[in-house]
Amino acid sequence: MALAPRSPRASLTEMTELVLPQHSNVLGTAFGGTVLAWIDVAGAICAQRHSGFVSVTAAIDEVNFVAPIRIGDVVILSARVNAAFRTSVEVAVTVQVEDRATAHRRSCVEAFMTFVAVDGAGKPAEVPALLAETPEDERRAREAAERRAARLAKRR
Ligand SMILES: CC(C)(COP(=O)(O)OP(=O)(O)OC[C@H]1O[C@@H](n2cnc3c(N)ncnc32)[C@H](O)[C@@H]1OP(=O)(O)O)[C@@H](O)C(=O)NCCC(=O)NCCS
Repeated sequence: MALAPRSPRASLTEMTELVLPQHSNVLGTAFGGTVLAWIDVAGAICAQRHSGFVSVTAAIDEVNFVAPIRIGDVVILSARVNAAFRTSVEVAVTVQVEDRATAHRRSCVEAFMTFVAVDGAGKPAEVPALLAETPEDERRAREAAERRAARLAKRR
C-alpha cells in the first residue's frame, strides 16, 4: 500500500548548538568534522521524520564552508526534504550563525545529502512521496532530481 504523501513542512528540522572550545580547531574556529557531524544528525532527523524509518546517510554532496564559525557562536542547523524518490530522499541542510545582539542569521554552510530509509532488517524501504505545497517546494524538487541524476551517473 502506497504511503500518504507528506509535505516538506512536516519534516522541517531545526537544531541549535553552542560552539564550545572542544568543538574548535587550533585557530579557535569550529572544527569542520564537528560541523559535518551536526549536519548529518540534523539531516538524518529530517529524513526520518519524512519516512518514519531509520535513515542512513548514503551520500553527502559538495559542502562549502563559506564563512568561519567561532567559539561562542550560536549555530542553527535547518534541514528540509527537497525531494523523495523510491527509498531515498535528498535533504538540504543549511548552517547559520545567529548574532547575539540582533538575532540576525548569517549563512556559513549549505549541504545536500542523500538518506536511505531502512527497515528492521537493514533493507531499503519505500518512502512517502513529497507533497509540494509551494512553487519553492516544486523548484527544490526539480533541482534535486537533476542533482540525483548527476549523482547516480557518477556512481555508475
Ligand atoms: C545506502 C544503502 C542502504 C543502499 O543500499 P543498496 O543495497 O545500495 O540499495 P539500492 O541499490 O537498492 O539503493 C537504495 C537507494 O539508495 C540510493 N543510493 C545508494 N547509494 C547511493 C549513493 N552513493 N548516492 C546517492 N544515492 C544512493 C539509490 O539510488 C536508491 O535510491 P531510490 O530507491 O530512491 O532510487 C547501503 O549502501 C548502505 O547501507 N550504505 C552504508 C550507509 C551508512 O552506513 N551510512 C553511514 C555512513 S558512515
